[in-house]
Amino acid sequence: MRTPLVAANWKMNGSREFAEHFFADLDLEGVTSDVVVCPPFPYLPLVAQVAKDKGSIWVGGQNMSQEPVGAFTGEVSASMLLDWNARYVIVGHSERRSLYAETNELVAKKFVAAQLAGLIPILCVGETLEEREEGRTLEVVTAQIAAISDLIDTNAWKDAVVAYEPIWAIGTGKTATPEEAQSVHQFIRAQLGNIGAEVQILYGGSVKSANAGALFAQADIDGALVGGASLDAKEFAAICHAAI
Ligand code: 13P
Repeated sequence: MRTPLVAANWKMNGSREFAEHFFADLDLEGVTSDVVVCPPFPYLPLVAQVAKDKGSIWVGGQNMSQEPVGAFTGEVSASMLLDWNARYVIVGHSERRSLYAETNELVAKKFVAAQLAGLIPILCVGETLEEREEGRTLEVVTAQIAAISDLIDTNAWKDAVVAYEPIWAIGTGKTATPEEAQSVHQFIRAQLGNIGAEVQILYGGSVKSANAGALFAQADIDGALVGGASLDAKEFAAICHAAI
């Protein structure tokens, strides 16, 4: 069946010193889920080295360009992530969508470029508070998924991860209840067609050790994409331990 996955999204936090301490403190002994750490780009080599030495984590990028190479100042390509043994890359995080104007169409191009290069995209989807209050959650998520489905063969979902991150729950301390999250996860799985049963669908938005167990107990929640709590090695390890 589906292996649980816990992903750390450090966002634009940390430093070289922080990263070194983080891994010294990170005790994943006994963890059975897959674990991926997505640091800011400059710390990819450091995380890649830890992944090589410890063997218990995967490396991921937080974003990538849809273009393979060329005059795109400030961008990072899929092959550059692969140079540091990345296995995953987050695409379409809500902060990229809202702060950097990434559209469903652009995110779909990044998703395809990631898969073409051999990376596993972690596609983020989710609604704003306003959209939820207007009862438009499923409509928004459907459009975000459909933009990808339009470009890929249905089977390609097997080599992807979806993260449902309600925007109103990100960094706010408010989490969707396990039941609220489960109902959207179940809906997303159905959107992925026959292959849906094999796709890891993560929940993201104020996940911490105190709420992880109840979220992971839901049938269609296969792990978490963790922001703030992934900056604390003990807290992050506790979330990883809860994913069974
Ligand atoms: P928080 O866990 O800080 O709410 O962030 C969630 C997130 O955006 C992970 O990608």
